[in-house]
Amino acid sequence: MTGTGGMEAEPERGGAGGTRTHAGRVEAGGPSRAVLITGASSGIGLACAHRLAGLGFLVFAGVRSEAGEHAARALGPSVLPVRLDLLDAAAVRAAADQVASELSQRAVPGLAGLVNNAGVAVAGPLEFLPVEAFREQMEINVTGQLAVTQAFLPLLRRADPPARIVFMGSVSGLLALPFMGPYSASKFALEALADSLRLELLPWGIHVALIEPGSVRTPIWQKGAALAQRMADRFPPEAERLYGRAMRAVQRYAARLGETGIAPEEVARAVAHALTAPRPRTRYLVAPPRRARTTRLLRWLPDRVRDRLLTKGLRLSRGRD
Ligand SMILES: NC(=O)c1ccc[n+]([C@@H]2O[C@H](COP(=O)([O-])OP(=O)(O)OC[C@H]3O[C@@H](n4cnc5c(N)ncnc54)[C@H](OP(=O)(O)O)[C@@H]3O)[C@@H](O)[C@H]2O)c1
Repeated sequence: MTGTGGMEAEPERGGAGGTRTHAGRVEAGGPSRAVLITGASSGIGLACAHRLAGLGFLVFAGVRSEAGEHAARALGPSVLPVRLDLLDAAAVRAAADQVASELSQRAVPGLAGLVNNAGVAVAGPLEFLPVEAFREQMEINVTGQLAVTQAFLPLLRRADPPARIVFMGSVSGLLALPFMGPYSASKFALEALADSLRLELLPWGIHVALIEPGSVRTPIWQKGAALAQRMADRFPPEAERLYGRAMRAVQRYAARLGETGIAPEEVARAVAHALTAPRPRTRYLVAPPRRARTTRLLRWLPDRVRDRLLTKGLRLSRGRD
C-alpha cells in the first residue's frame, strides 16, 4: 500500500460478546477484542493505541517507564499499560501472564492482535560502530520482536476469529543508506521474519502483516541523533577524518526527513487496516506517493546505478580519503 488512502475503519470481522457495529466496537458491555502494542509510550505506538481504543479494542500498551504508563493511561480506560522491556526476557514473560490474567477477568477469550512496534535506531559508520551497539540494535528490533511474538502466541491462538500479528518494519528494510547500516539490517531482518512467520501460521489463519513507513514525525529521530552523537564521541580521531563530512551530510538529510515526515496517525491507520480489514495486505508501504515511488524505483535499480544516485543525492563525495 502506498500512502494511507482507502484505509478507513473496516467492517467488523466478528468475535465474542455483544453485537458488532464496526471494527471491534460492541454495542453493550466492555470491549470484547484485545490487542497488545509494544513501544506504546510515544510516536507510532501511542498513535496506534489511541486509534485502536477508538475502534473499540481493549488495548494493552507495552511501556518501560512511569512516563510511558502515564501517556498510555491518558488515552482512557480501555488502554491498560503493561511493563514490557524487550531486552528483559523475564519482563516479556511477566507481561504475557499479566495480559492473560486481565483477559480472563474480563472473559475475553484471547488476544485478537499483536502489534510489534517497539524499536530504536542505531546509526554510524560500520567500520567504527561498537559491536555491542549493533548487538543491542538487533536484540531490540529483531530478537525482541520474536521473543514477544513467542510469549503471546498462546493467547493469540485462542482468539476467534483468528488473531493478527503486525510488525513495524520500515522503508529502511527495503533500502539501506550509508551510516544507517545497523537500523537497516534490523528492518531487512524483519522483512524475512514476517514472511516466514506468515507462512508458518497460515494453517491457523493467523495473518502476519508488515508496515513499512517512510519518515514519520516521532521522537525516534532525536533519540537516534543523540545516541549517534554519544557513540561518535567515543570514536577514534580517524573516524572523523575518514567519515566526518559524509556522516554529517547524512545526518542533515536524516534531520530533514524527521522534520518533514508524515504524522504517526497515518501509520496507525495502516495498522488498524491490517488488524481489522476482511482482506488485510501483507505489506503496507506508508509514505507520500512520490516518496513511495522513489523508494520502489531505487529498490529495483541495478546496485551500481542506485549507488551513484544515492551518492549524488546525499552529496557524498566518491573520492573520500
Ligand atoms: N519514526 C519513523 O520515521 C519511523 C519510520 C519507519 C519505522 N519506524 C518504526 O516505528 C517504530 C516506533 O518508532 P517511533 O518512530 O514511534 O519512535 P518512538 O516514539 O521513539 O517509539 C519507540 C518506542 O519503542 C520503545 N522501546 C525502545 N526500546 C525498547 C525496549 N528495549 N523495550 C521495549 N520498548 C522499547 C520506546 O519506549 P521508551 O519511550 O521507553 O524509550 C517507545 O515506546 C519503531 O520500530 C521504528 O523503527 C519509525
